[in-house]
Amino acid sequence: MSSQLDRLRALTKNLKMKAEHDLSGNEKFTKVITVASGKGGVGKTNFTLNLGLALAEFGQRVLILDADLGLANIDVILGVSPKFNLYHVINGEKDIADIILEGPNGIKIIPGGSGISELADLKEWELERFLLKLSSLEKESDYLLIDTGAGISKSVLNFTLAADEIIVITTPEPTSLTDAYGLIKTLNKHKYIGVIKLVINKAIDYEEGEIAANKLKIVVSRFLKNCKLEIFGFILDDKAVPLAVKKQQPFLLDSPTSKAADGIYSLASKMCNQLYETNQANGLKDYFYKIVSFFKT
Ligand SMILES: Nc1ncnc2c1ncn2[C@@H]1O[C@H](COP(=O)(O)OP(=O)(O)OP(=O)(O)O)[C@@H](O)[C@H]1O
Ligand SMILES: [Mg+2]
Repeated sequence: MSSQLDRLRALTKNLKMKAEHDLSGNEKFTKVITVASGKGGVGKTNFTLNLGLALAEFGQRVLILDADLGLANIDVILGVSPKFNLYHVINGEKDIADIILEGPNGIKIIPGGSGISELADLKEWELERFLLKLSSLEKESDYLLIDTGAGISKSVLNFTLAADEIIVITTPEPTSLTDAYGLIKTLNKHKYIGVIKLVINKAIDYEEGEIAANKLKIVVSRFLKNCKLEIFGFILDDKAVPLAVKKQQPFLLDSPTSKAADGIYSLASKMCNQLYETNQANGLKDYFYKIVSFFKT
């Protein structure tokens, strides 16, 4: 595993030097990926944080936004307690740099807190001021990963629909699969045209993961027109995850050779390869502009 990791690190470092600009010389934008699920408790927060850490190990510059309106979780897993959040940036009290938490591997965490619901009521000039504050982050980040709350509230839906890419997480349990289908159906109803990446978490083995993913894919292709669902990968059910959560440590760092960490590394390397194949990153400003306009419709 380690030589594979070293190779990837070297590759991504090399590619990054070329990647500040695309081939036509245009500025590169941050790729925004929202992680969502129908059912709660399927592993979104653990997945988002650990995927971010793996991407950072591969040389990517990663931002994570904790957009869970309920109990924010990323900070709990990291054992940190943010004093300020997006609310203080939106109302002009703080700069974005003042609220960012430095995580392991150089990742940066933006606590959403009450700022998430605040986005619904932004006036034009407040939005402009907020977007301006995001400009510096754009230059410093390759990915923004967004951890959402459970369910399909208007807020979760807006944070999801505005993304460059969506990762839907489910476990192989029928209730979780049904709720994942419900979420994908809602995205489809709202005319989301991007790729939806499916991750099966807590699979007993890869076969169980594949069976569950294929079940969902078959139903989606039968009933939802123009829905691009890609089976992205599987994370195995692994005791290392709850054990690390209890220690308030990301499992990738607490147990880097665990089965769950293995799954995360292989998805992160898949993402790194795709980043340079496609150019679908629209950036932070575009993302938050879309969210605010979705709230107003
Ligand atoms: N691959 C895994 N193997 C074993 N346990 C896991 C795995 N992934 C997550 N868990 C456990 O599942 C529980 C829920 O995980 P997590 O908080 O990441 O889910 P969530 O989808 O963010 O929940 P919520 O919807 O409440 O925000 C945690 O106790 C975690 O330890
Ligand atoms: Mg969560």
